[in-house]
Amino acid sequence: MRFIVANWKSGMNATQIVAFQDQWNQKSLTWDEDVRVVIAPPDPHYVAFYNDACAGVYPCLQHISALTGAAHTGSITPETISDCLPSYTILGHSERRREYGEDNRQVLAQAQILWQLQIEPIICVDADTFADMFAQIEAFDPHLQHQCLFAYEPAGAIGTGHNLDPQELDHIIGDFRRHHGDFFPVLYGGSVTPDNAASYAPYCDGLLVGGASRQADSFYQIIHNFIASDQT
Ligand code: PGA
Repeated sequence: MRFIVANWKSGMNATQIVAFQDQWNQKSLTWDEDVRVVIAPPDPHYVAFYNDACAGVYPCLQHISALTGAAHTGSITPETISDCLPSYTILGHSERRREYGEDNRQVLAQAQILWQLQIEPIICVDADTFADMFAQIEAFDPHLQHQCLFAYEPAGAIGTGHNLDPQELDHIIGDFRRHHGDFFPVLYGGSVTPDNAASYAPYCDGLLVGGASRQADSFYQIIHNFIASDQT
């Protein structure tokens, strides 16, 4: 299975999302069933996006609270999404770790909420957090390591235009897999563009794309280039 995930972060308003959907739905979208295209819109637009989703796209949240119940102002809890469950949810993005102080312990608590709802977390990690995150899931329940995706995102590569050298990614992911197994998907994220998307295809199971996913043409081209390269 290959995953191409768009993280729109806070960068799309309602008008821009409608324009993206219009352009997206005019494309003839053809890819194999083992390719999953996932989009995480900003929270206020999630329900509209969910109801009127782009063709062939799996809806995703950008985060979820580890709390449950109806009395948590500003939080998304299982109650909030009980009738519009996403297929995936991004957890532990470096911006949330930096801006809200989220750490692996909290990410694990959020993941537990998702697993109860049978939603797969896409857990963002970097060189400092990957092994510990993996170990925390193993200590909690090793079976759940089969029910999550990891997105390897070096902090210096996010939103900077300085994408990681694909050979370096190969080294990092290869090393991790040698120690821990290869049963869990690992995506790459950090300044992915249509021009560099294909170069990651041999070394990972997909991409997490920020800025370049906000234009339908560019996101479509990233998907196309990654898959085409993967099949050669
Ligand atoms: P970027 O963001 O593609 O804009 O670098 C990636 C991410 O933050 O997930």
